[in-house]
Amino acid sequence: MKMKTEILKLLRETDGYISGQQLSRQFGVSRTAVWKVIRQLQEEGYQVGAVRNKGYRIVDSPDVMTKEEILSLMNTRWAGRNILYYDVTDSTNLRIKQAGDEGAPHGTLAVADRQTAGRGRRGRTWESPAGSSIYMSILLRPDIAPNKASMLTLVMALSVAEGIRQCIGDGGDIQIKWPNDIIINGKKLVGILTEMSSQIDYINHVTVGVGINVNMTDFPEEIAQTAASLRTECGHTVKRAPLIAAVMERLEENYDIFLETEDMSGLLERYSALLVNRDRDVRIIGAKEAYEAHAVGIDRAGELIVRRPDGTIEQINSGEVSVRGVYGYV
Ligand code: BTN
Repeated sequence: MKMKTEILKLLRETDGYISGQQLSRQFGVSRTAVWKVIRQLQEEGYQVGAVRNKGYRIVDSPDVMTKEEILSLMNTRWAGRNILYYDVTDSTNLRIKQAGDEGAPHGTLAVADRQTAGRGRRGRTWESPAGSSIYMSILLRPDIAPNKASMLTLVMALSVAEGIRQCIGDGGDIQIKWPNDIIINGKKLVGILTEMSSQIDYINHVTVGVGINVNMTDFPEEIAQTAASLRTECGHTVKRAPLIAAVMERLEENYDIFLETEDMSGLLERYSALLVNRDRDVRIIGAKEAYEAHAVGIDRAGELIVRRPDGTIEQINSGEVSVRGVYGYV
């Protein structure tokens, strides 16, 4: 880790002040060099208090998602250890696909403040204005069969839901709309787009892209009724980097649990507890037909189990259909 990141981390982890002398000893540099780093941080918007004979103390951080900021907030082994940050890029999914083709390590994370070509599922676009949302994509290199990769979307959905809950506490009702939307108070808060590069029997790499509406207050007209942000629902702004860090920590743990069985067995209980569709009537919209059924829950393969009105039970695979509530989005 860079010295700046480590100093930021130490400032965060220290209760009260940490002396310039201690920092200079720890990094084997002069006190002036330490002071320069503190100045840089202040220029970037960090409020660092400096008191003679006491040292430095962090008072507030800006809402930035730089590599230093994210790394100083988390303790993962692989998830998000290698970060590519962009003030603006076309799409973080495209950045990660390219990084994957060029050999970047498992867990590489691309984060952008704005996207010019944000992509949603089914060829839709994902509105990606600056300063108010999280657009991020992670590179995964799982050694599993390609037909199991769609479950990674569910692993991410669970991790994002848990990360958000951890950050905002009881501020809103966060649930998962199978397979991969996260909703708050019945409105869409997060979208996930998973893309894979593979051979018939071998995965080159998987890109899981996540868009989280954090502080947005204006939505495009088409989605104004069904979309929400943490700010619109919790009534206050939320900092983005701690949210990313929390999601990475949850993902690292959940992904490793997933790999033990290569299915949802170890995560089923927690995923099901957050599943909004459970025990609800849903409308299944496939390529060939659309029908109504009662959603019972998900199975180990991550499929949605539904009961048709005539009593037949079906397992729905996430790639094939979209699911709506009978009366609306949920
Ligand atoms: C959906 O349609 O619900 C999925 C939306 C996924 C959006 C995210 S934002 C970060 C990443 N980059 C993209 O271009 N798309 C995903």
